[in-house]
Amino acid sequence: MAGAPSVPGPAPLKDSALFKPLKLGRLELDHRVCQAPLTRMRARKESDGIFVPCDLNVEYYKQRANRGGFQLTEATDICHYAGGYPGVPGIFSPSQISGWKKVTDAVHSKGGFIFCQIWHTGRASPTSFRNGQQPTSSSNIPITGKALDGTEYSNNPPRPMTIDEIHSTTKEFAAAAKRALEAGFDGVEIHGANGYLIDQFLHDNVNRRTDSYGGFVENRCRFPLEVIKATCEAIGSDRVGIRLSPYNYFQDTKDSNPNKHWAYLCAQIASLPETQRPAYVHMVEPRFDEVLDEQAKMDALAAYTSPESGVEAEATVKNPNSLVPFRRILARGGVKFLAAGGFNRDNAALKVETDDADAIIFGRWYLANPDLPKRLREGLPLNQYDRSTFYGANPPEKGYTDYPFFEPQPIVNGA
Ligand SMILES: Cc1cc2nc3c(=O)[nH]c(=O)nc-3n(C[C@H](O)[C@H](O)[C@H](O)COP(=O)(O)O)c2cc1C
Repeated sequence: MAGAPSVPGPAPLKDSALFKPLKLGRLELDHRVCQAPLTRMRARKESDGIFVPCDLNVEYYKQRANRGGFQLTEATDICHYAGGYPGVPGIFSPSQISGWKKVTDAVHSKGGFIFCQIWHTGRASPTSFRNGQQPTSSSNIPITGKALDGTEYSNNPPRPMTIDEIHSTTKEFAAAAKRALEAGFDGVEIHGANGYLIDQFLHDNVNRRTDSYGGFVENRCRFPLEVIKATCEAIGSDRVGIRLSPYNYFQDTKDSNPNKHWAYLCAQIASLPETQRPAYVHMVEPRFDEVLDEQAKMDALAAYTSPESGVEAEATVKNPNSLVPFRRILARGGVKFLAAGGFNRDNAALKVETDDADAIIFGRWYLANPDLPKRLREGLPLNQYDRSTFYGANPPEKGYTDYPFFEPQPIVNGA
């Protein structure tokens, strides 16, 4: 019986650094293929601005759970009106806590671990979504373009937060973290990336304050560092991570010197006392952009970064836009480093092997492959993702819980 010549499939990665165990805070992970925070806009509406995790969400997270694996939830509102989008869950009402408890129980029943990504959207929150209240941010600069509700952001510019509001929002982050533990989460990831509230303090094209929370980088990092410290003190620093995106352009952020400014922030994080120092920092690669493709993003960054703006001695002259210097600074404080953005089966293992990250965060591939760690471990083909169902679909299961698990194809004799 003549068999067809076998076409070599993708190489199994089971012996690569991706499948070595990792201690992350108090968790002992079996491998380093982690699920990205992914807003999917499929939580159930309970009332105005309150969306609750439902059975469909339980199924989605359970499908992607695996023994010793690490998952991040979609961005989750820390308080009423922290959000900017319909279908995005919160962690502030009793119903949300019990909805999430079903999710965390399901993940734990499969031997997995899950952190809740907690956010405040700041100026990305349209007024119609906030019961008419004006959105707040570091300054009064609106995002250009339209919000999801169809209104122009510039028609509802944000109001700069008062110092009291900054302090109360810091407390809200810490309180949300406590509620996340009540809901059974293993910890929280503070969303300090992608142009949302914390990032609106970090990026110098957005933060135009003249008080102790704006101006010099030391001041722009004050609120993010206070949130980190308060959250660590609330639930234990070994249960806390933060996501950052120095090179982010999304939501109109464009810092004048990301290398220098985020190096400062990382140095501050690395030198925090142990009780306030997060277990990990999770960063988005410069190449990833919500709108531009990889080449266009790298070209834009190269054109924008002036030659003398490296992270002083830390930066590599060869590639001024890289996460590696930040990783090295954080390693001095024993802070683990998770990298995201454009990873696939060809480039992920190398990133860990070269010690440029401790673990890799997969977004779109994880979304479309509920059994992604197994597929990478064994060299199995991947399902393609469908962009049209990223942010909701009709019915909501479509592109959410209906991506198939890998099934071996029956062998056809005589083929
Ligand atoms: C549908 C979708 C939703 C996302 N939602 C979030 C989110 O809630 N929080 C966040 O920090 N990043 C979010 N991101 C960014 C991803 O976490 C990730 O950084 C990005 O997809 C790049 O990784 P990838 O190349 O592996 O997809 C989202 C991305 C996508 C595609």
